[in-house]
Amino acid sequence: MPEDVRARFAPVAANYAKAAFHTSTERLREVLELAQPKPTDLALDVATGTGNTALALAPFVRRVVGLDLTREMLAHACRLTAERSVANAEWVLGDASRLPFEDDSFDLYTVRAAPHHFTDFDGFLSEAMRVLKPGAGAAFADCAAPPAAREVLHEVELRRDPSHVRSLTVMEWTERLERAGFVVEVASSREMDWDFEDWMGNMAVAPDLAADLASVIEAVEGEARKELHPVRREGKLWHAYWHCLIRARKPGR
Ligand SMILES: C[S@@+](CC[C@H](N)C(=O)[O-])C[C@H]1O[C@@H](n2cnc3c(N)ncnc32)[C@H](O)[C@@H]1O
Repeated sequence: MPEDVRARFAPVAANYAKAAFHTSTERLREVLELAQPKPTDLALDVATGTGNTALALAPFVRRVVGLDLTREMLAHACRLTAERSVANAEWVLGDASRLPFEDDSFDLYTVRAAPHHFTDFDGFLSEAMRVLKPGAGAAFADCAAPPAAREVLHEVELRRDPSHVRSLTVMEWTERLERAGFVVEVASSREMDWDFEDWMGNMAVAPDLAADLASVIEAVEGEARKELHPVRREGKLWHAYWHCLIRARKPGR
């Protein structure tokens, strides 16, 4: 049984309001391009954390609701909303697989860098489907390693953060979304140059464990090594890391 995500995220919540990946303008633009928000949209950003994706959506939609399981993450979202004088964002405590919203109520659904924590993946997808209006779109972005690098990254993810459950491949995402009734319009994956130290820092991983996990990545062989291509630059470890970028739609009436 994975550890409770709240126990993992509450003590490090402040890190996610300034983490390099999570706040990167380029990465937020990428999710906006995928989501294609419209000025009339009521949008829902699930597992919003400190609200990075929801706050990026806010200028492009009528209203955005950010939902998360961890109160301490949402406290930072509230702080950022006030600091940036954002008037059309609200924050709701809740679970991705039991959304406290009515059927057919949102024009857009987004979730980024979180489904790999979800213990009830099919429940999360069926809830996304339920709360979207017929014909509405959804953007899903999450870690998704290619098959050869998957097991080694799974080991590192789990030891870095025991609330990690499983990252799906792009093909598995597509299958699960289609089984849940979505029409998949875009299903791609992109590689990033990943700063290992920064990644460990977000979760405040103890230095000994971080050093162990760096050795796991650096000792990797064969196809997994070709995919991960770990390298030291000025003493810091960098390697490849992947996210799936998926756009899907709830069928119209
Ligand atoms: C890496 S953070 C999210 C980052 C954020 N989406 C962004 O784009 O910057 C992962 C978040 O998932 C949340 N989470 C994990 N499981 C959840 C669930 N079942 N329902 C809602 N939120 C969940 C955690 O509380 C945490 O805030």
